[in-house]
Amino acid sequence: MNEQDFAVGASGLTKTFTLEWTRKKLLALDGLDMQVRRGEVFGLLGPNGSGKSTTMKLILGLIRPTSGMIKVFGEPSGSLASRRQLGFLPENPYFPGFLSAREVLNYYGKLVDLCGKQLRERVEELIELVGLPLAADRALKTYSKGMLQRIGLAQALLHDPDLLLLDEPTAGVDPIGSRQIRDLILALKKRGKTIIFSSHLLEQVQEVSDRVIILHRGKKMQEGTLDELLSVQGQSQFTVSGLTPELQEKVAALLKSEGAELVNVSHPKQKLEDYFIRSVSK
Ligand SMILES: Nc1ncnc2c1ncn2[C@@H]1O[C@H](COP(=O)(O)OP(=O)(O)O)[C@@H](O)[C@H]1O
Ligand SMILES: [Mg+2]
Repeated sequence: MNEQDFAVGASGLTKTFTLEWTRKKLLALDGLDMQVRRGEVFGLLGPNGSGKSTTMKLILGLIRPTSGMIKVFGEPSGSLASRRQLGFLPENPYFPGFLSAREVLNYYGKLVDLCGKQLRERVEELIELVGLPLAADRALKTYSKGMLQRIGLAQALLHDPDLLLLDEPTAGVDPIGSRQIRDLILALKKRGKTIIFSSHLLEQVQEVSDRVIILHRGKKMQEGTLDELLSVQGQSQFTVSGLTPELQEKVAALLKSEGAELVNVSHPKQKLEDYFIRSVSK
């Protein structure tokens, strides 16, 4: 694969912060190698302080690495060519509460050089995309956290970037709001966007990510598809309806005679979140 096939290519990426008062050094990111392919939804997972936001800021070029290399679509991070292709939803986006969503998007649209009819159409399209047409003229101080995150997402999409960086997009958002944000991520992937998002809420990552990296204290602990990381090797699962105790015994005996073993019989569980969403949407 060639450099341009990767949305992000980082090798040996390291960031040390010098603490202001004590002059102590803090190693926030330690030799990270990371390749994100075009069109992928990529999850950066890890507890608080593991280096997720630092990685995002390095991709954006908001901070420079202490050592190592990082490129965005083959361009050095921080260069104009790389920034044009990037959209960013920060961890705690701030918008003036007295403005409406439509006003905020118009303002940010002008900052990325949109104007006139093009600006108006883009703003309407994004309000529609993030599912807020009914609330678009309300002051943002009346918005829930989930709605604010969706406006933050619309803001990040104004200049139609190819790569989106979403820092903890579902933190502090209730289950229904989180589900809406995840559906949006999948809709954007369908449109060919590459998405890198971070989360310390591990459950929420499963449904959307193609691949993940698990960070801990600035070091990469694991990398791969969730299938690779989560499937228990050497065991398989059947789902059966109409299993009687007698049939179960026969199956166990058959398996035994073939040198296999019935390890566990249980009822499939629905996820608590699905159960919750089904219950409240009744
Ligand atoms: N500007 C900074 N100055 C000093 N330390 C920082 C700075 N930014 C981040 N850190 C430290 O770097 C580590 C990684 O932080 P961060 O990337 O924000 O973690 P995460 O986003 O995974 O919670 C933390 O220990 C954090 O305190
Ligand atoms: Mg963070």
